[in-house]
Amino acid sequence: MQDGCGRTIDYLRLSVTDLCNYRCRYCMPEEGVCKRDHREILSVEECIEIAEASVRCGVKKIRLTGGEPLVRQGFLEICRGIRQIPGLEELCITTNGALLPELAKPLREAGVDRLNISLDTLRPERFAHMTRRGRLSDVLEGVAAAERAGFSGLKFDVVLIGGFNDDEVGDFIELTREHPWEIRFIELMPMGPCTGWDKRCFLPGNTILERFPALRQVEPQGVALRFQLPGAKGAIGLISPVSHEFCGQCRRIRVTADGKLKGCLHAREEISLRGLHGGELEAAIRRGILQKPLRHHLSERASDTPRTMNQIGG
Ligand code: 5AD
Ligand code: SF4
Repeated sequence: MQDGCGRTIDYLRLSVTDLCNYRCRYCMPEEGVCKRDHREILSVEECIEIAEASVRCGVKKIRLTGGEPLVRQGFLEICRGIRQIPGLEELCITTNGALLPELAKPLREAGVDRLNISLDTLRPERFAHMTRRGRLSDVLEGVAAAERAGFSGLKFDVVLIGGFNDDEVGDFIELTREHPWEIRFIELMPMGPCTGWDKRCFLPGNTILERFPALRQVEPQGVALRFQLPGAKGAIGLISPVSHEFCGQCRRIRVTADGKLKGCLHAREEISLRGLHGGELEAAIRRGILQKPLRHHLSERASDTPRTMNQIGG
């Protein structure tokens, strides 16, 4: 359906947990989030029920996010339940990849269509430092497992952080020569733990185009501008939520792991979907879509949301 500004909303990002096995410095505090009573988090049945109601409201693509969705109990059951919804065209997951060595095959069998893997650095020590507890080798094994399981068109999300990984942009771009992957550079958004970080950490995405003039622009996809090296198998995406505001093309709504519908990642407004069923649930989702804000204000100030990324879903 259309929102109040005439945008078609057909994409739901549903967070299934706020827990994560990593503690990326820009996303989560060192001590993690205090584990909430599991009753505060949507049950498997509620996740599926919300997905069904949103498909009735016109959603065609669902992405499951977290925290880290693969740590969620019952995650495969959620995937299977959602994949069976008539009218749903695509079920995707955003994951940090750490558990893909074990889970890639079962996810494929559960009907998951696509994977996005978060990967901010290709250097093992940096990876351990940034995630505070992750191992790069797990993710690389996970990527291999995903390809063996039949996932194609893998996308990698790289949060671009000045002084941390901007010297690796060339290495990431090189990967697209031989691999049919899309490597997407995402501007760091000032929210949660990185809100007060030095200005130099927040690099505009177009610095990449200035540094790599060989990149040729190709068809954009969703909110990503896309580029390719001549003859490369893969592509480069630029996602610039801060500098190149893409709110006008935004087709998404979000549901947090505790069942709050958000029209915008950066807005304070939330509609609780807990305890609603059938027509009531559908009406609440329609209300959320109609109230989706026109735009965010990240270029002027930090995010308005008091939540951190793991609490909303990346
Ligand atoms: N800015 C940009 N991306 C972020 N993510 C988490 N916090 C931020 C932020 N402040 C991304 C992660 C991952 C997804 C879960 O959200 O890197 O790709
Ligand atoms: Fe976990 Fe992703 Fe946040 Fe890192 S960025 S702590 S992997 S939710």
